[in-house]
This record gives sequence, structure tokens and C-alpha cells, in this order.
Amino acid sequence: MSTVLSAFDGPVVLAPAMNDVMWRNEATQANLQTLSGRGFRVAPPGTGDLACGYEAEGRMAEPEAIVSFVKTVCNSDFAGLRVLVSVGGTEEDLDPVRVITNRSSGRMGFALAETARNHGALVTAVVGRVAIPPPVGVHVVRVRTSAEMALALEEHFAASHVLIMAAAVSDFAPSSVLDHKQKGGAWTVELSRTQDILASLGAVKDQRFIIGFALETENLATNSAAKLAKKNCDLIVVNNPLEEGAAFEHATNSVTIYNTEGEVLSTGLKSKHEIADIILQTARAQDAFRQLAK
Ligand code: CTP
Repeated sequence: MSTVLSAFDGPVVLAPAMNDVMWRNEATQANLQTLSGRGFRVAPPGTGDLACGYEAEGRMAEPEAIVSFVKTVCNSDFAGLRVLVSVGGTEEDLDPVRVITNRSSGRMGFALAETARNHGALVTAVVGRVAIPPPVGVHVVRVRTSAEMALALEEHFAASHVLIMAAAVSDFAPSSVLDHKQKGGAWTVELSRTQDILASLGAVKDQRFIIGFALETENLATNSAAKLAKKNCDLIVVNNPLEEGAAFEHATNSVTIYNTEGEVLSTGLKSKHEIADIILQTARAQDAFRQLAK
């Protein structure tokens, strides 16, 4: 099998099936990560009766599910596309033990990574601080600070067709990091702007398709149009945290999507997976997306 695979350069789908403890084993997950990074697609196992006599995760995906996964990988509009997604929040060091971070859970970014994977894309996720595990079959690069995120994204951007900048990158970082833990008493910290990763990548965009995110509570249309132009994005997805059930820490979200023509789409309150699907469908409908050379 491995000899045949090593001489094959088309898409390969793996359908792992095993005992649940074996499936969760760090070595198994690391091997899957390596394979995902090399372009293998993983049809994730289901939950149900295992040969061991109990119900758990690890059961082979149903044959119908595997067939539909293969069809998606081979036929979808995203087949052959390399999608780079940034996910979660960053941590900026104050001293050896303290950080500045934010409440991003990574749910929206991971939903986008998973949806892009389901549509046949080869997905790399640059992942900061998150509250949930990454989806199977996505190549994960872990980072902590905004500077590390910038480096990892710059490295993978060159080989990507699409960038989805869903991470909540800290806009500020302490101007200097203390070598030793700050002891009690008052403490004044000076913050400086971090690099705007999206604007930097937008400046060297070429033919790539870029989706940016924004957080706005007022003047959505004007602010979004300005941000879209400034960061050279094709779409900008705007969260309004004042809306009930939207943005940070929720399983749901409600976003407004703007394109370069000034067209607007508001999703209303939906699950983050449904929103991810709408974002990718909207991307697919844009002229710039259709012109992507796979
Ligand atoms: N972003 C980035 N690098 C930063 C800050 C943000 O790449 N240092 C990205 C985010 O991932 C997101 C978009 O830029 O895709 C958000 O832009 P930003 O200007 O931070 O928007 P808001 O959060 O809406 O902040 P503000 O309006 O205060 O500028």
C-alpha cells in the first residue's frame, strides 16, 4: 500500500478506523497531522459500535459517507485549492508568566477550516490560543504570539490560493517584556501596535483571494469598506458583538459580509458552521475567486 501511495500524485483519502483510545493516542493524531500536511484528506471516523464491544469514537465512517467525501474531494469547487486559515487569539508576553490575550475561542476559524476541508480544499490552520481541538484532516501549525503568527502565515502564504484571517490578533503588545516576574504593587505597562498581518499579506496578494474579519459596533458599512480597501481583501466578514449570541465564546454568530463591489449580505443568527458555509459560498460567487489558478 505505501509503495503504491508513494508513486501516486492524485488526491488520497484516508478513512481511519480503530479503537477509541488508539484513535485519541497522541502518536496517531501526530501521524494524521503529518499526513494532512502532505496533502492526504481524512474522512473522519464516526461514533458507534466498536469491535471491542462498546460504543465510542473510532468506528469507520459509513461507506456512503466515504463515497460522498471522495466525490467532494474530486469534484468540489475547492478541489486543488490550498486554503490558509488563522484561528484563535494571540498571547503577548508581559513577563515570564503573564500574557495579554483575548476571549477568542477559535470556533469560527475551526468551522471555516473544517468547511473548506469538506469542500475538498487542502487546509492549513495557523492556530493561536483556542478553547477547542482542531478538526481532523487539517494541517495545524501552533503559534502563541502575534509575531509567531505573522511568521507562520508569511511562510505558508506563498503556497496558498486563499487566506481566511479569522484569528483575533492582538492589536497591541507590551513595548518591552520583563526578564523576571513582576512583584506586587502598581504596574504601568506601555503597549505598542503589533504588525497588521492581514495588511502586510494583502500588500503582496497577487492572484490570491483574501477574506478578512472585523469587529464593528457602529458605522458598519463605512468602516468595513475602508478596512476592505486598506487591507486589500476580497471579502470582509464583520462581527457585531453587541448582537445577541454573536462573536466571542458563542456556538452561534451573526455576521455581515461585504465585497469589493459594495454588495452586502447579512446572515442573521446561525451556528458557526452554517455561517462558515455561507462565507465560503459567498467567496465562491466572486469573480476573483473564479479566476484562481488551481
Ligand atoms: N489583524 C491582523 N493583524 C493585527 C490585527 C488584526 O492581521 N495585528 C486582522 C484580523 O485577523 C482580522 C482583521 O485584521 O482579519 C481585523 O482588523 P482590525 O483592524 O483589527 O479590525 P478590528 O478588530 O475591527 O479593529 P479596529 O476597528 O479597532 O481597527
